Amino acid sequence: MLSRNLALQIASAFSIILYVFANDPPAGIHALPVANMTSSFWLNSPANPNPLRNVGSDGPLTPDADVCIIGSGLTGVSAAYHLSQSEIASHLKVVVLESREFCSGATGRNGGFLSAASCTSFVELQEEYGTNEALRGLLLEHHSYNLTIDVLERHGLLNEASILFGDSIHLFEAEDEYASNKADCDAAKAAGMDMTGINWWTADYVAKRFNTSSYGAYTNPFAATWPQKIATQMYLLAERNSDLSLHTHTPVLSVNDTGRNLWSLITPRGSVECKYVIHATNGYAASLIPHMWGYGGIMPERGQMIAVRAGVDLKELSTDGWSSDTGYWIPQLDDGKLPMVLFGADSSAFNGTGHVHNTTDDSEVVQNTLDLEVAYLPQLQPKLYIKETPAEYAWTGIMGYTATGDPFVGPVIDNVNRVKYVNQYISAGYNGHGMPRTGACAEAVVQMITANITGEEWIQPDWFPSRYLTWNINQ
Ligand SMILES: Cc1cc2nc3c(=O)[nH]c(=O)nc-3n(C[C@H](O)[C@H](O)[C@H](O)COP(=O)(O)OP(=O)(O)OC[C@H]3O[C@@H](n4cnc5c(N)ncnc54)[C@H](O)[C@@H]3O)c2cc1C
Ligand SMILES: *[C@@H]1O[C@H](CO)[C@@H](O)[C@H](O)[C@H]1NC(C)=O
Ligand SMILES: *[C@@H]1O[C@H](CO)[C@@H](O)[C@H](O)[C@H]1NC(C)=O
Ligand SMILES: *[C@@H]1O[C@H](CO)[C@@H](O)[C@H](O)[C@H]1NC(C)=O
Ligand SMILES: *[C@@H]1O[C@H](CO)[C@@H](O)[C@H](O)[C@H]1NC(C)=O
Ligand SMILES: *[C@@H]1O[C@H](CO)[C@@H](O)[C@H](O)[C@H]1NC(C)=O
Ligand SMILES: *[C@@H]1O[C@H](CO)[C@@H](O)[C@H](O)[C@H]1NC(C)=O
Ligand SMILES: *[C@@H]1O[C@H](CO)[C@@H](O)[C@H](O)[C@H]1NC(C)=O
Repeated sequence: MLSRNLALQIASAFSIILYVFANDPPAGIHALPVANMTSSFWLNSPANPNPLRNVGSDGPLTPDADVCIIGSGLTGVSAAYHLSQSEIASHLKVVVLESREFCSGATGRNGGFLSAASCTSFVELQEEYGTNEALRGLLLEHHSYNLTIDVLERHGLLNEASILFGDSIHLFEAEDEYASNKADCDAAKAAGMDMTGINWWTADYVAKRFNTSSYGAYTNPFAATWPQKIATQMYLLAERNSDLSLHTHTPVLSVNDTGRNLWSLITPRGSVECKYVIHATNGYAASLIPHMWGYGGIMPERGQMIAVRAGVDLKELSTDGWSSDTGYWIPQLDDGKLPMVLFGADSSAFNGTGHVHNTTDDSEVVQNTLDLEVAYLPQLQPKLYIKETPAEYAWTGIMGYTATGDPFVGPVIDNVNRVKYVNQYISAGYNGHGMPRTGACAEAVVQMITANITGEEWIQPDWFPSRYLTWNINQ
């Protein structure tokens, strides 16, 4: 292990700041997911039964497993899926433990916006980490996007998961954004990134075609999804090919060392003994891994969504998704005549009130934010939305933010307190951008576990950024 002095030198050489936390988190911040969560469209629309909602919540608890996955969002079910596809790992006994109903974290409460970045922040990443690393960040997202779509397509499940293909249209709401985004894409292109499907639109074009005011826009390929349905289908595919079980409404209270090279996951229903543990708990990670608390770890942040009827049919609305500095919105179809539109506020929206920082409480919505969300689309796109149409659903969800903007992927390593977490892994902290990253990050963790089983060294795929790896993060 590195001495702190050496770690500091390395950290400053890479201009990463070292944060060491002596304090405990404020009371309540890293409590378990709350029981009285708000009701999201994805989990509660009458058109959608969330079929795995309460699976395994009563009856006997699985007493032991080779791999225990904590969390049933896209990270947890993707890990289960990849384990089921691996020649070595498909023989293992795997259990997923979920605190509330199936998929009730960020994945069941998000914006459903699935889009791989083609150049976002490329110049900044290139300056900080070099061209190869900047490219890997983009490649990982394309790999993950392809993986999700490919798995569903191969099994004829695109409709089952309510996938609507279109373009994501990123609107510029300030004058300098066109130029800076163009510079990112030009740099990514020069570095060899495939820019097929990217279009640049002027403000005039956007106004004429959509009756929407802007400073222009760029587009890239995108899918509007129903995230809980993707998670459900991936879980069911994994279950077909492996010894997999699920216990919902079974919070893991702590991960205890048995002293026999096994971890004991303590739950109110008893304990589960596990050889390997995967923390797929995203914004809640610090509740089980204390050194993840704070600025150098994973900070919980609450986003707020609404579901509102569009004023026109899907043909007129189109299957495109939109984003701006204020928010992101996508169409979906349920049983209603007009499409439902899912709108979420960005962190910086509404003078910085779009998100609430440092909370894991998704039991409340903020009325002022809700009012601003309802007012935004009819004002921006008056031909597509009817003013003062009330939201049919309003809810919140918890994301995991990190100082770098990147997730933590790999073995759990505590350089602060030097606690040993042998055979515990994590993939968490997607900074509100998990749809195109969870699948690939979970795949990497599963590769690491299978390598550990066979005693081989994990071979880093050429699409995987080194800066995501836990052993490269100076906390
Ligand atoms: C409001 C909102 C909007 C978003 N919009 C988008 C978007 O449009 N596009 C996009 O790409 N990303 C979006 N995101 C981010 C994306 O949803 C997440 O990055 C992604 O879903 C993370 O998946 P996950 O499986 O890692 O975490 P989660 O889905 O949060 O799953 C973690 C699970 O762990 C469970 N858990 C936690 N602690 C315990 C414990 N101790 N014991 C048992 N279970 C536990 C939780 O209940 C939860 O179900 C959004 C997020 C939010 C909240
Ligand atoms: C993803 O799929 C597209 C279309 O099939 C292909 O052009 C692209 O190369 C793929 N990208 C990756 C990273 O696999
Ligand atoms: C949208 O349409 C209205 C009415 O036709 C018009 O007054 C307005 O200027 C248009 N806005 C944009 C941005 O095109
Ligand atoms: C597990 O560990 C926690 C924290 O150290 C401790 O409080 C608890 O009693 C342990 N539980 C069991 C069943 O050993
Ligand atoms: C949230 O917590 C982090 C880490 O402790 C801290 O750096 C940040 O300032 C806090 N943010 C707010 C808005 O309180
Ligand atoms: C944001 O702040 C500005 C300046 O104080 C104010 O004029 C504006 O109304 C605020 N906007 C919102 C959405 O609260
Ligand atoms: C949800 O429950 C928690 C305690 O479990 C409480 O603090 C919180 O106020 C409740 N939320 C609402 C909106 O009632
Ligand atoms: C992999 O396995 C070895 C031997 O069982 C163990 O010592 C090591 O810590 C494991 N690696 C990780 C990252 O946990």
